[in-house]
Amino acid sequence: MWKPPEKIRFETRADPWPSAVQAGASQLFSPLSHGALSLAHRTWVPAMVPWRATDDGFVTDANIDWYARFAKGRPGAIVVEATGIRDVPSGPLLRIGHDRFIPGLQRLVSAVREASGGQTRLLIQLIDFLAIRRRPSREAFIERYLRVTDRHREALGGGELSDADVRHALLLLPHERLPDILTPRECDDLQFGYRERVTDTHLPAIAELPRTLPALFAAAAGRAKQAGFDGIELHYAHAYTMASFLSRKNTRNDGYGGPLEHRLRLPLEVYEAVRAEVGDALAVGCRYLADECIDGGTSTDESPAIGVAFAEAGMDFLSLSRGGKFDDAKQPKVGEAAYPYTGRSGYECMPGHISDQFGPFGRNVAASGLVRNAVRAAGLDVPVVVAGGMHSFTQAESVLRDGHADVIGFARQALADPDWFRKVLSGNGAGVRRCEYTNYCEGLDQKHKAVTCQLWDRVALDEPGAPRSADGKRRLVAPDWQP
Ligand SMILES: Cc1cc2nc3c(=O)[nH]c(=O)nc-3n(C[C@H](O)[C@H](O)[C@H](O)COP(=O)(O)O)c2cc1C
Ligand code: SF4
Repeated sequence: MWKPPEKIRFETRADPWPSAVQAGASQLFSPLSHGALSLAHRTWVPAMVPWRATDDGFVTDANIDWYARFAKGRPGAIVVEATGIRDVPSGPLLRIGHDRFIPGLQRLVSAVREASGGQTRLLIQLIDFLAIRRRPSREAFIERYLRVTDRHREALGGGELSDADVRHALLLLPHERLPDILTPRECDDLQFGYRERVTDTHLPAIAELPRTLPALFAAAAGRAKQAGFDGIELHYAHAYTMASFLSRKNTRNDGYGGPLEHRLRLPLEVYEAVRAEVGDALAVGCRYLADECIDGGTSTDESPAIGVAFAEAGMDFLSLSRGGKFDDAKQPKVGEAAYPYTGRSGYECMPGHISDQFGPFGRNVAASGLVRNAVRAAGLDVPVVVAGGMHSFTQAESVLRDGHADVIGFARQALADPDWFRKVLSGNGAGVRRCEYTNYCEGLDQKHKAVTCQLWDRVALDEPGAPRSADGKRRLVAPDWQP
């Protein structure tokens, strides 16, 4: 994973913890109600893919254990991991692109209700992503994947060359000469693996996305409603389809790219289709980027206006993340796929303890404040959820008091200690396992391995009934806590 060149090492601060009385009177543990979003506390566990679904996208017992464990800590809300809206194979990631997925999701909803005593609201993150392939070897790329064109023939100096001749000539060419013959996009496909972009409008399925996606998202949202979820989080963040539509790098010229107004069109149309499907009883909002953190990308000069547009459209919440793009991802090894959290933007998304002078804590807070201010200035009171290095009561409370956000997202801190919320509220903050921001969990995610936390995955391994990884070496959920 990319690290800031300054390489300053940070330790998670041992901020003072509140007494039960102080916690009970805090903003963090006060309720929030807006539209269909009604939270007992302003605490939120953002989506985290745990790599526990079946290979064909069904909920497993391990998924249920994972979410029930978070629910035992009783946060205000949990967002279920990015769940695919299409009925296409996508490995062990949850899917919701067909009615056959509903019963498993229903079981998951019931488990969370039971484990949280009905207190935690459960949302599901709906995602669409485009095709991505592993990085090919140079030989495989030239012999199998490259589509030979007249441009290659001309660049090689022989208009009469057959496809086989072109491939043969390219194979013999020194590597550094290839950019003279291949287009920049072909060079990219060779070095990083083929990846579809929303700007590939020569591909009919990509050109048609504005016609296909609203119905796909709406149908998925309808299934989430049937499964009993309290809300929908539309995934408009990171490296995926909808974030790419919103991005300043979206140059489509069909009315869905270019000026911000056009880039907002599909995200708004998707939202409207989803709302029409589920009505007002379900909370519907989105997660988007306060800053893409890439050259030429969308930043805080646009994200406040994006928030205002979503709030005006009627979303029930805006959840802000940052970074996590393919644009600056590290080159994968041959045979591996690019991973969007390996560059600087990936660092901004999941900042680690080796950092720059700003440190890993609350890097998205200032940007979140800008979005919230713009939304409030427009006369709208839609709640803003902020995430990124949030871990302590003092820090969370000051973000709320300073008006930078309305709800605090704790992703890795909740993974490190799912009981954070109950412990702090009951005056037992001193017993919190503080996230160290080492990104061990994120490394597992990158390798598509069951995600666990290094602070507890080897603890009490022999505990009867504790679910374990396939090799038996790691427990899959944190040990129980009793006050
Ligand atoms: C293992 C793992 C999986 C994640 N999966 C998702 C996901 O499915 N959707 C999403 O929007 N963010 C995902 N994230 C990002 C988190 O939601 C969060 O934005 C990020 O970790 C920063 O917050 P934190 O510092 O509180 O961890 C994931 C993070 C981790 C560590
Ligand atoms: S492995 Fe645990 S301590 Fe390390 S970053 Fe992840 S949640 Fe935090």
